[in-house]
Amino acid sequence: MSESRTPPGGPVRPDTGVAHNARVWNHWIGGKDNYEVDRKVGDQVASIIPVVRDIARADRDFLGRAVTYLTRERGVRQFLDIGTGLPTADNTHEIAQRIAPDARVVYVDNDPIVLVHARTLLTGSPEGATDYIDADVHDPGTIVRRAAETLDLTRPVAVMMLGILNFVLDTGAALDIVRRIMAAVPSGSYLVLTHPTADPEVGGEPQVPAMEFWNENATPPITARSAADVTAFLEGLHLVEPGLVSCSQWRAAPGSTPVVPQYGAVAVKP
Ligand SMILES: C[S@@+](CC[C@H](N)C(=O)[O-])C[C@H]1O[C@@H](n2cnc3c(N)ncnc32)[C@H](O)[C@@H]1O
Repeated sequence: MSESRTPPGGPVRPDTGVAHNARVWNHWIGGKDNYEVDRKVGDQVASIIPVVRDIARADRDFLGRAVTYLTRERGVRQFLDIGTGLPTADNTHEIAQRIAPDARVVYVDNDPIVLVHARTLLTGSPEGATDYIDADVHDPGTIVRRAAETLDLTRPVAVMMLGILNFVLDTGAALDIVRRIMAAVPSGSYLVLTHPTADPEVGGEPQVPAMEFWNENATPPITARSAADVTAFLEGLHLVEPGLVSCSQWRAAPGSTPVVPQYGAVAVKP
């Protein structure tokens, strides 16, 4: 039997009056798990920053390449995916368990709509394990404690923080969260992250008005960060080649995808 757990709790009622990030992200990547308000706000954001759908797609493709690389080339068998998003075509456990059926994956998100769909995330290979934690990234203590029920935290874990630290508006608080989570996993563990940026070098200028619009019309509030700020999250870790780059360029076939204003990196804990 595959080990997996069903999220506890009673019926969940998603807020359909305000656009929510998980559902708008789902709209941008072509999913159907969203409401009219999400499509409306998502399309308005896309009119300010037309590349936003490319960003979302590039981020998902980066996730696929990073999980494949870590599972196949680095022998990683445990993943802690924080800020999971709604299930889509290739979720972390599906990619990892295709290569290593015994891979164990814990998902974390705090959006009620992701909780509603979490059952899809919990259907894994018989040899592996999946779990879903309904928790806030601002509470790393709970995340680590609950993750330890499924993952062996004495063995390497790939901590995935894709498109999530941008919802921790205070950079000091975001750094503290990363440090606390990486302190709970052993040497040989990885941090995989993506983060939006307004850096002009990667075409990020439209992020500024787009995020202003988002913060007035949707939830949760978001921030962009510079390459220097994102690099600070990786302090004390060793960057895997090619380092911090536009996530569309990370170990992608040369010239295959355009540069997007969303950084991506993978780093190992020495
Ligand atoms: C941009 S989506 C990224 C989804 C996925 N990681 C990916 O890269 O495709 C961000 C996700 O973070 C979740 N999220 C936002 N704020 C959060 C918080 N404070 N705690 C936990 N999850 C949060 C949202 O619900 C959403 O599912």
